[in-house]
Amino acid sequence: MPDDTPASNHGGPPLHVAVIMDGNGRWAKARGLPRSVGHREGVEALKRTIRGAPALGVGCLTVFGFSTENWSRPEDEVSDLMGLVRTYVASDLARLAKEGVRLRILGRRRGLPDDIARIIEKAEADTAHNDRFMLQVAFNYGGRADIVDAAEAHARRVASGQATGPLTEDAFGAGLSTAGAPPVDLIVRTSGELRLSNFLLWEAAYAELVFQDILWPDYGPEALGRAVAEFRARDRRFGGRKPAEPLREAI
Ligand code: IPE
Ligand code: IPE
Ligand code: MG
Repeated sequence: MPDDTPASNHGGPPLHVAVIMDGNGRWAKARGLPRSVGHREGVEALKRTIRGAPALGVGCLTVFGFSTENWSRPEDEVSDLMGLVRTYVASDLARLAKEGVRLRILGRRRGLPDDIARIIEKAEADTAHNDRFMLQVAFNYGGRADIVDAAEAHARRVASGQATGPLTEDAFGAGLSTAGAPPVDLIVRTSGELRLSNFLLWEAAYAELVFQDILWPDYGPEALGRAVAEFRARDRRFGGRKPAEPLREAI
């Protein structure tokens, strides 16, 4: 059994919440504004959400910032999104570091502009010792690409003799870019779309899913609180039997 299977269904808060931040374009369009404004407001929503997460019992937040498929958007939009990483990290890194946030960037480094790759490395290095809160930003990330990269890493370990014997789920999971983060308890998608769009495909195995009809730039601690409340009311079973009522009361 993989070690990300919690022992019980305790009704507590989700330790690790992952969010598909969707709807920036529609938010802007509804206001007759360019999409770039929607993305900028999306960064403000992210800041609010990070600030509100610890009080809800969330210790790790993973957000989808840019998918491997988002390269197919018009060049000016791609460059707006790259620009937001530059300004967000430049303006917020010192504060995040001071507040005890460990920042990790998930996804492929190759293919990113050199300066962004350097910004990411510095941000991770500057916050690596922090343990109050973990923020993971999936950027140039695709769930399938991450699985392919983990498979390639494993093949290299086999070829070099480092890996022997049958491959386990835990050993494979250790090659994914989320390795070291707690198991994903809850995946939220905003904007009313009902799909994963290549986000955390492996990690989603037993995550609870919550879809919210709110566009990402309108998001914040209240909306996250509603998602957390929905999670806490869920009955997680991980393929096992439903616990007997008296046993649940005892927990
Ligand atoms: C989410 O908003 C942000 C990214 C994908 C980068 P969208 O840009 O997808 O907004 P919609 O879905 O077009 O409204
Ligand atoms: C997923 O949203 C990617 C991010 C939120 C960064 P998209 O808007 O790109 O996904 P689709 O195209 O609607 O599936
Ligand atoms: Mg979208």
